[in-house]
Amino acid sequence: MMDVSGSVIRQTPLAAGYWSLELEAGLLAKQARPGQFVHVRVPRLEQSALRRPFSISGVRGGVLEILYKTVGRGTGEMSHLLPGDAVQVIGPLGNGFPLEPRGVPVLVAGGYGVAPLSFLASRLGRKGVLLAGGRSAGDVLSTEGFERLGWQVQMATQDGSRGEKGLVTVLLDKELLRLKASGEQAELYACGPDGMLRAVGERAVAAGCRGWLSLDKHMVCGVGACLACVQKLRREDGTEWIGRVCHDGPVFEAREIVW
Ligand SMILES: Cc1cc2nc3c(=O)[nH]c(=O)nc-3n(C[C@H](O)[C@H](O)[C@H](O)COP(=O)(O)OP(=O)(O)OC[C@H]3O[C@@H](n4cnc5c(N)ncnc54)[C@H](O)[C@@H]3O)c2cc1C
Ligand code: FES
Repeated sequence: MMDVSGSVIRQTPLAAGYWSLELEAGLLAKQARPGQFVHVRVPRLEQSALRRPFSISGVRGGVLEILYKTVGRGTGEMSHLLPGDAVQVIGPLGNGFPLEPRGVPVLVAGGYGVAPLSFLASRLGRKGVLLAGGRSAGDVLSTEGFERLGWQVQMATQDGSRGEKGLVTVLLDKELLRLKASGEQAELYACGPDGMLRAVGERAVAAGCRGWLSLDKHMVCGVGACLACVQKLRREDGTEWIGRVCHDGPVFEAREIVW
């Protein structure tokens, strides 16, 4: 883990309210693994919590990419960053996704949850399918990058403005049936809102495959010290324990999580 002074290379508006931020972060970027995150010190935030956590959505040499949505004060301030601005970044943090799937990788993204999955798709040895969901067309992001890498992409939106109308789990149910029919095993990787993660986890258990879920919890310190991000977890022997998403996660196998 490093605390570096990064500098903004580029900030690109994507669909409404989403941004792609590229930061020169040297060794931090080079050491990053898919599923890890960075804790960004947001300029002009005077209150006690000055940092915000973001998944690493990709790296190019020493350049780190973040894909974020403006939802409040911190992300609002971030959207004003300009090329050349200095930004303090701690990372890479967290455990990351395992990179040796036991079956066809099926990536399930909800909104900005596509961010760590983009990085994952670029590093997994085996290609598979991305199932990308969101409320509306503007919430389905970065799918072209997956196609360029040779991944199959399917989309679903709740209002039907892009891809299938409905929840992304509808696509997942079809994909799991298709894989089962062809005698193939799936390995699920998901990032998105809790309801979606829980639904993906239930399907991993039902299908008897592994499901790697990246949890999105409110964080303060980002390094295991403040207990802002606790999550009830289960060991293989069934005993329960309280973990810290920033330190023990953010990625957990579906069977570990007590919802
Ligand atoms: C490991 C991890 C990875 C993340 N990766 C990304 C990413 O790649 N892209 C991205 O856009 N966001 C990501 N987030 C969420 C991001 O950290 C929050 O959206 C951000 O901290 C909000 O800051 P803010 O000051 O703008 O909002 P605030 O003013 O603090 O809050 C505004 C609203 O957002 C809600 N909110 C705050 N924190 C979170 C959170 N962690 N999850 C969901 N809702 C929240 C608040 O409850 C409130 O309703 C990630 C979070 C975690 C824990
Ligand atoms: S954010 Fe402080 S312990 Fe996780």
